Amino acid sequence: MNYKILINKDNPYDKKDFSNFLLVKVDEGVVLEKRTFRAYLDLKKRLEKDNIYIKVVSGYRSEEDQNKEREKYIENFGIEYANKYVALPGVSEHHSGLCFDIALIIDGKEIKEEDYINNYHEIFAKIIELLPLYGLILRYPLGKEKITGYNYEPWHYRYVGKSTASIIMNKGLTLEEYDKLYNRSGVLLVNKPKGLTSRDVVNKVSLIFDTKKVGHNGTLDPLASGLLVITINKATKINELLTCEDKEYIAEVKVGLLTDTLDLEGKVLDKKDEKITKKMLDFLFKKFPRKYLQTVPKYSAVKVNGKKLYEYARSDKEVVLPKREVVIKDLELLDFTDTSFKFRCVVSKGTYIRSLIKEMGDFLGLYFTMSNLKRTRQGKFLLDNSLDLDNVNISSNLISILDALDIPVKEVKDNDYKKIINGTAINNNYNVLDKVLFVNNNSDIAIYKEENGNLKCFKML
Ligand code: DAL
Ligand code: ZN
Repeated sequence: MNYKILINKDNPYDKKDFSNFLLVKVDEGVVLEKRTFRAYLDLKKRLEKDNIYIKVVSGYRSEEDQNKEREKYIENFGIEYANKYVALPGVSEHHSGLCFDIALIIDGKEIKEEDYINNYHEIFAKIIELLPLYGLILRYPLGKEKITGYNYEPWHYRYVGKSTASIIMNKGLTLEEYDKLYNRSGVLLVNKPKGLTSRDVVNKVSLIFDTKKVGHNGTLDPLASGLLVITINKATKINELLTCEDKEYIAEVKVGLLTDTLDLEGKVLDKKDEKITKKMLDFLFKKFPRKYLQTVPKYSAVKVNGKKLYEYARSDKEVVLPKREVVIKDLELLDFTDTSFKFRCVVSKGTYIRSLIKEMGDFLGLYFTMSNLKRTRQGKFLLDNSLDLDNVNISSNLISILDALDIPVKEVKDNDYKKIINGTAINNNYNVLDKVLFVNNNSDIAIYKEENGNLKCFKML
């Protein structure tokens, strides 16, 4: 359900966008989308407390209804005036059922539209102030005629949902301006501070970009900091394509300590007065296997028999920890003392650095515990190009889907366009070997994958 759909002269009503919306009958032939109706009722009830009485006079309009509305205006005020207040059929947001016109009831009498324009400013100001509380906006504000294409309509309200309505009304935007600023997709690189979960970062980004469609790939534990690759709106669909990438970390290790979580957050299981030497470290960094079966940490979200490992651990239940093949592509000692050291590594997808550290300790017969972790790279994304969470805002740079993916890009051929927007398989007339991103007029359409000589839809964007 996308309540933020923009309909105006440049963006005609598309029935397809509204297949999930439920229209309900209000009264006297007025029909509204269900949540829009709820918002209207709640607003009406609230206004009655201040002795302001309103009535919905028009909601959903078919193209025929829209034509009638225009004819009424043309007849009464002339074509020029009608063009300033009534959209042409096909480009009116009244076709959506997400907006409605109200009439004021003063002394029991319905006030006619034409009177609103010059009178009742105070009453309208009061109503308009309350709109965002109900997820409503004033769709055609005063002074924004050039942007919306229509004159000030203090009686026409549009449902967009509460968070969006607050942003639009508090920042004094039109839906057109909101759409331009907020209707963006791409990859955002964030430098996660210590202490926050990856989910906390997603929630913050979700508030800033006013969308629930925010994802991340490659979880960083609260103790860890560094690069978190965040996907926004359409880019959430390419999450799985970004997660298969190599990751680079800088890790710090404490010697002589063993904890149940394999990092400093956990319960201490044992302590020993152990020391390391440069010789031991040289041996370790030279000889530690670069490809081996890694034991997944018991405090991890990896599932065994439908249950997460940390759930077994918390309830003290025994479980055999699974092993996974990992590849250590690069391993470099950066710094050390006799009870700690710091190293850089590049590892394959799914490698746990806590486990790697523990296993490095096992290799020397010592207790190693991770004391710090920072992710510095994921695939081609660098921590150096990331933003501190506090600096993220709606205008922050997003990496386009096209730039984020390392797959060929093809402009959709005319005769394939209809098939591709519907996700239908097509002939491989594009010489694609594996995956391809189809674009049309600078807009990302879909990712297709080669299969037995044909191209099949992998992801609709
Ligand atoms: N009054 C608005 C512009 C419409 O007719 O859709
Ligand atoms: Zn209207």
